[in-house]
Amino acid sequence: MIVNNLYIENDTLFFGGHSTVDLAEKYGSPIYVMDEQKIRENCRKYVNGMKKYFGDNAKPFYASKACSFKRIYNIVESEGMGVDVVSVGEIYTAFKSGYNMKNVCFHSNSKNDYDINFAMDCGVGCFVVDNVEELDAIDCFAGERGIKQKILFRVTPGIDTHTYEAVNTGKVDSKFGFPIETGAAMEITKYALAKEHIDLAGFHCHVGSQLFESSVFIRSAEIMLQFIAEVKSTLGYEAKELDLGGGYGVRYTENDPTIDIEDNIRQVAEYFKKKCSELNINEPAVSMEPGRSIVADAGITLYKVGNVKRIEGYKNYVAIDGGMTDNPRYALYESEYTVIAADKANEPCDFLCDLVGKCCESGDIIQPKVMLPESIQRGDLVAVLTTGAYNFSMASNYNRIPRLPVIMVNGDESYVAVKGETLEDIISRDI
Ligand code: LLP
Repeated sequence: MIVNNLYIENDTLFFGGHSTVDLAEKYGSPIYVMDEQKIRENCRKYVNGMKKYFGDNAKPFYASKACSFKRIYNIVESEGMGVDVVSVGEIYTAFKSGYNMKNVCFHSNSKNDYDINFAMDCGVGCFVVDNVEELDAIDCFAGERGIKQKILFRVTPGIDTHTYEAVNTGKVDSKFGFPIETGAAMEITKYALAKEHIDLAGFHCHVGSQLFESSVFIRSAEIMLQFIAEVKSTLGYEAKELDLGGGYGVRYTENDPTIDIEDNIRQVAEYFKKKCSELNINEPAVSMEPGRSIVADAGITLYKVGNVKRIEGYKNYVAIDGGMTDNPRYALYESEYTVIAADKANEPCDFLCDLVGKCCESGDIIQPKVMLPESIQRGDLVAVLTTGAYNFSMASNYNRIPRLPVIMVNGDESYVAVKGETLEDIISRDI
């Protein structure tokens, strides 16, 4: 199995020690199921690996855009992780969960005055500043409060990660941050150092997502450290912090490689230490921002089959009771997934079909060219694996379809972490 918390017993798929058939019986369908222990295991790889190889000042921040609801913030906080947020919605969720807002890092390439004030009122610890307009606004609102606001600058190191275009963010022409190459990053640093209410702690970069090679992070570290050394010699300012962003990939299918996060961190840290001493700069405290690799393989989605359509000589469809509203990733990125008949998990898979949703458009495909048992029929349970990241958080109400609940399993227990939307929820904002 692609994830170690999955196994099959008597034809039934088990996830986190729970029968998926029993979960669907208890909580209904469709549902997201997440495994709390798996989330914790993933957090520990970063918390322990970063401490061990980068030292005590290093810290991972969970990029909560991957999956944001109150319980997740409690889980990652108890594992010693900071969090990265990108909107007032994520800030509010973290705040209401009781998360210590000092450990929150606020991203976004377009923060308006309301966003900045909201974040300051919630006590957000650090802003990752993307543009000069935002810097001026932060300086002004921090001044009004009589504080010095800690910030990092988002810098684009000019790396093309060759991942899919929508998540490729480190190139010079990216909409995010200040490019090093054009001199913009140096210029804004100089400008910020003269600001009375800005405490510039250092720099941030994030180059892409679903990446498998530590070489990408090594290359980012190289460029960022060179920049830090250049800033030191030009402006006499030495960065105290360096955030290398997120991006480590996960296994969606058997074709994806397995990645040893701790060993990757070791390789990056070794290079980082060598480079700092070569450049004669103090080692900045390093942070990373994993999102996908914390939650993706800690989640699956369970659906019931509604119908099986065999179009002789052409194609077969298995239509389920969910769709692009709960998982838009194939429609958006042609993302691959592993699909299993969860109640017929030991039957031979000899039926080629497209797994499609119930939305009113042909692009509503969860996964094309899937192999399922020939006997698959209405009422059967289908599991789509590795859906813990960017599924719940990217869900929509297209066709006024209610969003799914999130069921959390934790050892022998299971509980509702997020309630499913009701039809009343759907019309609750209509006048
Ligand atoms: N830090 C920053 C500044 C980011 O922009 C991102 C992701 C992360 C951290 C976390 O990256 P991760 O470890 O999750 O790869 N919706 C897309 C993914 C968008 C990623 C955006 N930024 C998807 O479904 O694949």
